[in-house]
Formats: sequence, structure tokens, C-alpha cells
Amino acid sequence: LSRDNFPEGFIWGVAASSYQVEGMTDKEGRGPCIWDKFISDKPDRIANNATANVTVDEYHHFKTDIDIMAELNFDSYRFSISWARIFPEGEGNVNWLGVDYYNQIIDYMLEKGITPYANLYHYDLPQALEDKYTGWLNQKTVEAYVEYADFCFKIFGDRVKNWFTFNEPRVAAALGYDTGVNAPGRCSSAFGNCTEGDSSTEPYIVTHNFLLSHAGAVHRYRTKYQKEQKGRIGILLDFVWYEPLTDSMDDILAAQRARDFHIGWYLHPITYGMYPDNLRNIVGDRLPKFSPRQQAMVKGSIDYVGINHYTSYYAFDPHLPNSYVKGYSADWNAAFAYDRNGVPIGPRAHSSWLYIVPSGMYNVVTYVKEKYENPTMLLSENGMDDPGNVTLPAGLSDTTRINYYSSYLANLLKGINDGANVIGYHAWSLLDNFEWLLGYTSRFGIVYVDYNNNLERHPKMSAYWFQNLLKKKEN
Ligand code: GCO
Repeated sequence: LSRDNFPEGFIWGVAASSYQVEGMTDKEGRGPCIWDKFISDKPDRIANNATANVTVDEYHHFKTDIDIMAELNFDSYRFSISWARIFPEGEGNVNWLGVDYYNQIIDYMLEKGITPYANLYHYDLPQALEDKYTGWLNQKTVEAYVEYADFCFKIFGDRVKNWFTFNEPRVAAALGYDTGVNAPGRCSSAFGNCTEGDSSTEPYIVTHNFLLSHAGAVHRYRTKYQKEQKGRIGILLDFVWYEPLTDSMDDILAAQRARDFHIGWYLHPITYGMYPDNLRNIVGDRLPKFSPRQQAMVKGSIDYVGINHYTSYYAFDPHLPNSYVKGYSADWNAAFAYDRNGVPIGPRAHSSWLYIVPSGMYNVVTYVKEKYENPTMLLSENGMDDPGNVTLPAGLSDTTRINYYSSYLANLLKGINDGANVIGYHAWSLLDNFEWLLGYTSRFGIVYVDYNNNLERHPKMSAYWFQNLLKKKEN
């Protein structure tokens, strides 16, 4: 496998997010975001009571990290902008130190020949908007988001030509408002330790507002900036592949339900202007409606789409009484992550390498091609973690990760050769970093970070594997 197997001009890069790598969460003018409060409210939510206040301190190490990307022959970097670092209260006054930080990293990327891909939102809503409006449950937040996006287009759009509005909004809606395990931690009381919410409607209201925010920002970009700046804008969607556990009709229907509740929830309205039939039939009048104007804004609101893919689940209809209260998880009612022997393979299964299901990569890009009019796709996240107990130097010989990347990339290439319109690939992630609830016990990096020794960066074998894969023929 080499760079030459892939189409001419295929984009190679790495991806990360502001909250997971920046640090400096309460310094240089940044305001708090909902994850800061979510963690300080209950520190034991995160493994070992870890926080992201420092993490890998990209705020001060970005030159080192961009140098490593260039050294490894990557040509792009998907980073996210922290809304609360730009607008500490989410709207109103600007933190110019924050603007300066992003100007510096963008300028340094360009200096090193790394194309910036800027993502405007990766779970980190300014806490002020949660306090003032109850965040994404309120149309006011949609308006604030579009003004935040406009500001970023205006300030950075002369150099940033590749935008994304949101990263994995489905995860934010489902885990933030159905199970409540992620910020802002709202769910129906039946789930236990979370803020009193209503799982039966809130995930759908939040998703509707994410879609309106996305469409509003895209409309603003296209009418005010795109002609002159000549960039493109899209959205980053997570897509686990679902395979029916058996060839029974129940399981085949369960797998399709799961796909509709996963990527269809977003990509169906973005492609066709309406939610998938499975959602409209199952969620019914709890599902918000698009007005004709909203429908026109949402339909066709991508120049390209990022697909984040890691693993596959077997879906089967559990015929179990709904153990949940009525809510997003119960609505789609497809059972999760069991292998054929009924062994659970959770989405981030540490111990079991069942996590590695390379055919899922071929399946997701082929499905998007066939079901959603073969949009321009960037495979925007892919990778695997190590259980956090790896230490130096053992942690550097990550042969399983090399196996993961080579087999997934081979399947991506198969999908491209079968016509899927994939223009690039971003590995998650360059560095080990703050893995949300798993804190630092999970390492996704191709570069090891030594948390016990000044956050020193140590490329793993997989980093050198990419360096070799991406070596350009001396032209
Ligand atoms: C996302 C992901 C990342 C994770 C990565 C590994 O939303 O894109 O949650 O933030 O760190 O997927 O789990």
C-alpha cells in the first residue's frame, strides 16, 4: 500500500479537537465550555478524575506538533476552534488573545505546507449559552452559532479554505440528552445521575437545532464569503457500520433502523430535506418539522461530508421490553455491539481486538455512495486506541495499530475503486490526548505523549509506517 495507489491529489492528514489537545482552558481569556462545568460538577465522571485543563498543551506545543506532521509527510490537519476561546460568553465581546492563537497555528501550518481543515464545533458549547438559553434546546443558540461561524469565516477565511460546521452532532445529541453520559448530561431521570431532561424529545430538538445551525452557517458562508474566499464547507458525521446479526428479517430491519438513527438522522435531511422514514414513523410527532424555508436551507447544505469511522456493530432486534424510558436509544431499539457469539464489542472495546472490522470501512463509504448520491467524502476520522497502561518504550511498538490502519485503508481503497467519491483521509489522532470519559487511560495517537515527563512526544511505529506510506516519489 502506498500513496500512489490512491487517486492523484488524495488528501492525507490527522485530526484532533480543541478540548482534547489545547489545554489552557481557563487562561488567556478563554471562557468555560459545557465540558469544563460537566467535569468540575462531578470530577469522577472522568477516569482517574482527569481534566483537560492541560492535556497535551497544544496551546504551547503547536509548532512542535505541526513540525511532526510535516516530518511524517502528512499534508493537512483537521483542528477545531474553541468557540469559548473566541467568544468567552458565546456571543458579544471577543477574546483577541484567542483569535491570535488560531491565527498563529493557521499561519504556521501554511508555513510548513500543512493545509488547515477548521472544524467550528467539537462538543464544546460556551457554558454561558447553556446558562442563559439552556444551550442547544433554544433557537437563541442557533443564532449565536451562526454569528460565531460568520466571525471565523471573516477572520480566518482568507487562509482557511476547508470548513466543517460540527463534529459528530449525533454523539452530542444522543450522549448529551438521551443517556446523559456526555456534557451537558441531560437525560430522563430513569438513567440516574443526570440533570432532569426528557430523553423522548430533547435529542430530537437538539439535532434539529444542530441542523438549522449547520444550514445557517453554510448559507452565510455561501452568500457572504464563498465567492471571494473560494473555500468549501461541510459537516463531520460519525458512522458505525451495522451488520444484521442473522439474515432474519427482524435483524435486517434492525440494522437499517440503526443506520437511519445513526447517519440518516443527519445525512438524510442534508441530502433530501427530510428525516428518514424510520425516524418519522417511530419518533412520530416528537420529531420536529422543517418549515419549507428551513427545508430549503438544510437540503444540499454540504460541499463535502466528513465520515468518522472506527468499528462495526452487529444489530439485531432484541425483542426485549424497552428497558429504557421512551427516548432516542429506545426508539431505534436495535441492539448494539455483540459479536456472533453474543460477546459485547463496545464501541471503544479496549481488550477485544474485535474492534478491528476492516470491511466496515468499505461498507460505510459504499452505503453513503448508494444511499446519499455519492457526495464528496473525506474519511475524517479513523484509528484505534491502546489500553492506557502502555508505557515507554513498549507503547511505541504498536503493531496492532499498523494492522488496523493498513487493513482499513485497503478497504477504503476498495470502496474508492468501486466508485465511492472519497477525496481524502484523516487519521485520529496525531497525539495521545484527552479521550473524554476515558481521560488519559486511552491512547489514540500515532505519537505517544509522556504525561510523566513534560508531555514529551515520541512517534510510535505507526507514525513511521505513515511516513513511509506517504513518502512522495522524488518528482
Ligand atoms: C469524535 C470522537 C473523538 C474521539 C475519537 C476517539 O467525536 O470525533 O469522539 O473526539 O476522541 O473518536 O474515540
